[in-house]
Parts: sequence; structure tokens; C-alpha cells
Amino acid sequence: MKIRKAVFPVAGLGTRVLPATKAMPKEMLTIVDKPLIQYVVDEAKEAGIEHFIFVTGRNKGVIEDHFDRMYELDATLAARGKQAEIEILARDQSEAGAMSFTRQQAPLGLGHAVWCARDIVGDEPFAVVLPDELVLNAPGCLAQMIEAANKLGEKSNLIAVEEVPAHLTHQYGICGVGKRHGSTMFEVDGMVEKPPKGTAPSNLSITGRYILQSEIFRILETQERGAGGEIQLTDAMIGLARTQRFYGVEFEGERHDCGSKAGFLRANIAFGMARADLRDGLRAEMQHYLERK
Ligand code: UTP
Repeated sequence: MKIRKAVFPVAGLGTRVLPATKAMPKEMLTIVDKPLIQYVVDEAKEAGIEHFIFVTGRNKGVIEDHFDRMYELDATLAARGKQAEIEILARDQSEAGAMSFTRQQAPLGLGHAVWCARDIVGDEPFAVVLPDELVLNAPGCLAQMIEAANKLGEKSNLIAVEEVPAHLTHQYGICGVGKRHGSTMFEVDGMVEKPPKGTAPSNLSITGRYILQSEIFRILETQERGAGGEIQLTDAMIGLARTQRFYGVEFEGERHDCGSKAGFLRANIAFGMARADLRDGLRAEMQHYLERK
């Protein structure tokens, strides 16, 4: 069944990057010249997603505005003959009716945020994309996952996984590795959210791209709070794995955790260096600072 819908949970408080996120949503933080949320919507579009579902909260209205038309801006740019800028705005404009916004009234956790999208998703498989994780690659991470799902051709769930250093596994959701399917995919053999040190089944962490079957909503409905007192998506996936298969996808590309200060800075450098129009200037600037004592 075609994966047509993607859920973007954007209701978190972004406490790791305060004070930037006091009045501004974390998902509007800018990498080079685009907000995080625009990157992940573009990634989903490229993967063939047709409907974009945002789970928002208080203080997040500007995300909705970002995807709307700005008539004053359009008119001013047109009057000044700023064609290149008009084209940038037109490129990012979503189709009417292709975006839905629902609210998570309190940040009870990622699992709860996904559950808030249940009625808009309905009874079909869907993607979940976390906007604070960017993957620098073409084709994008979600396109790679949808291709993997199509190859499987069976009703299943997929999670994007990435190796993390063994001594840091207690900070992540980790999955065990079962039967391998080709060089980049394997059957998931158990998942655990933030395993105590020395108990992780592997060093493969669950990252921010998922393809899930709609049965996850029934499990989320009664999911108890887990690690950090939050309703965890991983815990609900563990429940679903009792009756449905999960696959891990080792995607190609460099993942950036833009929800931490160091990761955000690194992503700006990586995405800046990937831009032909900015690379040389950025390299010269960095050289200057590296040489400074
Ligand atoms: P994070 O845990 O990275 O985001 O959740 P956070 O809670 O905003 O960040 P910190 O830890 O306080 O700095 C990953 C994604 O899930 C969303 C966040 O907005 C983010 O995009 N999220 C998280 C929700 O929508 N609701 C929640 O209750 C929790």
C-alpha cells in the first residue's frame, strides 16, 4: 500500500537549545537558509508523500504561517522585480489542502504526539519524520526507506537505524539485529529505550524516520509512560512487534541531531559546505577562525 501520509511531531519544548526556543519553535531553527521543518517536508515530498500532518502545540503557530502564502511579501517582491526570491517562495509553497495541523496540548512524549494524528492518518501505513534530525544525502532518508518498504512488499514496519559508539547506547533507543535482508536491511530482534549501560543488544540506534502501520495507534491509546516519564514511541513499537514484523534500515547519509547546540552548529557547517554557492567562502571563514588562537 502506498505511503501517502507523513506525521511531523513538532510540539516539543526544545529545552536543549534554550534560550533560542523560548518564543520560537525549535523546528524553525535555520540551517543555512531554511528552517528545519522545510528540510523535512522537502525530504518527504521527494519520497512521494502527499499529505503532511503536523502535531503542533502552543507557540508553534509560525510553522503554519511558514507554509502559507504571504501576500504582502509576494506583492512587494513582485513590485521590486525580485524574481529569484519569488521563485524561492513558490518552490516551498505547499499545495492547498495537502497540510493538516493538529494539537498536542501538553508535551507528554513522542508516542503521545504521534497518537494525536490518529484520525488524520486513518487506517493506512504512514511515515513519522522528526524535524530535528536531518540526513544529508540524495536520495533522502525517507525515500530510501520507502524504497525498502516497497521491496519487502508485505505489511511491515520500518525504522531507520544508525551506529552509535557502544559506550553511548544508554542514551538512545536501541534495536537487536535478527535475520539480514540484503546489505542494508535486517529483521529487528527486540527494541529497548535507553538500555542501562552494558545491556544494549547492539549499537544500532533508532533514528527519527519510521514507517508504521496504523495498528500502532491502538497500542498508543493505552501506552503507559516510560523513560523520562514520557509516552515513548519505542515502547509502543515493542508492543506492535509482538504481532507485526519490524525491519531496520541502515540508510545512506550523514545524520545530524539539530536539537542539540553542537549538532545544530555542525549541521550548519555540513549543509553550508554542501552548497556550491557557499562552500569556498565558508571554508575561508572557518580557516580564519581555526588559525585564531
Ligand atoms: P525531542 O525530545 O528531540 O524534542 O523530540 P524536545 O522534547 O522538543 O527537545 P528537548 O529534549 O526538550 O530539547 C523529537 C521530536 O518530537 C517532538 C519534538 O517537537 C521533536 O520534533 N515532540 C516531542 C512532540 O511533538 N511532543 C512531545 O511531547 C515530545
